[in-house]
Amino acid sequence: MKAIDLINAINEGGYAGEVTCDTIKAGSPHKELNKVAITMFATVDTVKKAMEWGADMLIVHEPTYYDHMEVIRKETPVIKAKRELIERSGMTVYRYHDRMHHREVDQIPEGEVYYLGLKGKTEKTPYSASYLFTSDEPVTAMELAEKMERDLNIAHVRIAGTRNKKATKIALCFGTPGGVFDLLQRDDVEIVLTGEACEWMLGEYARDADALGFNKTLIVMGHIGSERDGMRLLAEKLKKAYPVFETKYIECGEVYTYTDTEE
Ligand SMILES: [Fe+2]
Ligand SMILES: [Fe+2]
Repeated sequence: MKAIDLINAINEGGYAGEVTCDTIKAGSPHKELNKVAITMFATVDTVKKAMEWGADMLIVHEPTYYDHMEVIRKETPVIKAKRELIERSGMTVYRYHDRMHHREVDQIPEGEVYYLGLKGKTEKTPYSASYLFTSDEPVTAMELAEKMERDLNIAHVRIAGTRNKKATKIALCFGTPGGVFDLLQRDDVEIVLTGEACEWMLGEYARDADALGFNKTLIVMGHIGSERDGMRLLAEKLKKAYPVFETKYIECGEVYTYTDTEE
């Protein structure tokens, strides 16, 4: 199987606009696949780990060169060194973003909900990549945050607003999608899960709502913490579907380090 065959296969059922970031960032579409590595970000570390493993292809979800469409306005020494590292690897690097999100079931929240062990119903909202989830089991924000730190390995989840009231109406706004403030303000939304958030707007709204007696929480998971489990699940799916090549999930780690984390 060649890289392009796998790209076509995973894109089936997904859709992208006329302009999409889902393109090959390096290497050849005709590379024969024996080993496929999957990660959230092509960090220097994940690229090196994929190279050491002998990957022919690296599938990533996010930009490699710090721009959604990978427009390099200025090739700084950092960008040059990274580009040379990736080119030296000979791997085919493919970004799987738009068609991963935009399909009947968005594969990012699917992975997050799966590894969080939540059961319930996910519905679309008017906002791209934001969903409403109704949990079968009522859960508090503290319980959810503890699950995230334990099962999703997020170092520090941030909670603004209500901590200990049971909730079932949860907005899934993983990464940094649109409509997060609108969803937070909806009467039928109790908890909003997101990757990155504007503190003065979203955080303070949740804090005030809670102080005024409403059941309202914003949980900030970090961009990577809120999306990588979709890639983790993708690796599991590919492992089962394509025994013709080896598949490996490579963890990119969170971007921030803390005084109480080792690295
Ligand atoms: Fe994202
Ligand atoms: Fe995403």
